Amino acid sequence: MTPLLTTDAIVVESYVGPKDERSLADDVLDGLTRPFKELPPKHFYDARGAELFDRICELPEYYPTRAERAILEERSADIVEATGAAELVELGSGTAAKTRLLLRAMADAGTLRRYVPLDVTESMVLTCADELVDEFPGLRVHGIVGDFERHLTHVPPPDGPRIVAFLGGTIGNFTPGTRRRFLRAIGRLLRPGVDHLLLGTDLVKDPAVLEAAYDDSAGVTAEFNRNVLHVINRELDANFDVGAYEHVAFFDREREWIEMRLRAERRMDVHVGKLGLDVAFAPREELRTEISAKFTVKRLTADLAASGLELRDVLTDPDELFALSLSGRPAG
Ligand SMILES: C[S@@+](CC[C@H](N)C(=O)[O-])C[C@H]1O[C@@H](n2cnc3c(N)ncnc32)[C@H](O)[C@@H]1O
Repeated sequence: MTPLLTTDAIVVESYVGPKDERSLADDVLDGLTRPFKELPPKHFYDARGAELFDRICELPEYYPTRAERAILEERSADIVEATGAAELVELGSGTAAKTRLLLRAMADAGTLRRYVPLDVTESMVLTCADELVDEFPGLRVHGIVGDFERHLTHVPPPDGPRIVAFLGGTIGNFTPGTRRRFLRAIGRLLRPGVDHLLLGTDLVKDPAVLEAAYDDSAGVTAEFNRNVLHVINRELDANFDVGAYEHVAFFDREREWIEMRLRAERRMDVHVGKLGLDVAFAPREELRTEISAKFTVKRLTADLAASGLELRDVLTDPDELFALSLSGRPAG
């Protein structure tokens, strides 16, 4: 652990170190040597990737952020009343843009004590810690720079009734089996009958609406998708010809998830210097970079139940595009 910042109101700790460079190296070695090439989506998010994601959230086609925000605008006070939350732990907190609505409702209810953002992007955690202690006098921030798949155990013990928020539909990036394992790990941060999970899930809908959200006309999502190749070029001394990979996004109707892929325009021989690895792409060969599962209430309830969590409430926006659910471990 490396302490990054300590003031009266803020503690920020980093668990990202040389081992995490290994995690990119391991994922590249593992993912690019498979018959069907694949990389996990967390490697999109260097500073440029985080900035591109922010731009995606503003796009007319990208409804999830607006829909989730609309729910929080309407229902944050109810969520705080139902949970009595004094502490908000947020996984993949990013710029904490929507989270401020919840923190505001907690402050208005007089319960707000601590915010615990956890994100892989160091600059995001530091910036939002600074901004939030200014915005909410008396708030303490315990920031964690880390990987939510590996560093959940570093979330400090609760300081009052806790909400763990996992917003933005990021849970959809997990395949079904790992999704349940991850929800179970989140459950370990919750005390039975006391704490709650607030989970954002994108809902199954017209495939045309879904596909447009992941393939916008301005090409921002395409840039975001290709950013993972820039990250590998820089961090692992590779020579991907980034512009020669085409962005592909489609809704898999059977699995009910969006897939993002990068398609090689022509035959490509890539060298990854730091790994001493040569990877060949056949013309039009695809590399899967993200899945984003879409949910029904039935699927959500089943996933939560299989992870030891009980669904308490489902809140949706007026167009029923997106859902925020409250769940917890059953008391006793
Ligand atoms: C899709 S964005 C969502 C951001 C924000 N919560 C929202 O709802 O708009 C995903 C965020 O999770 C972070 N992230 C992605 N994978 C992560 C991981 N494995 N561990 C920690 N943070 C991760 C990214 O840095 C990014 O800020």
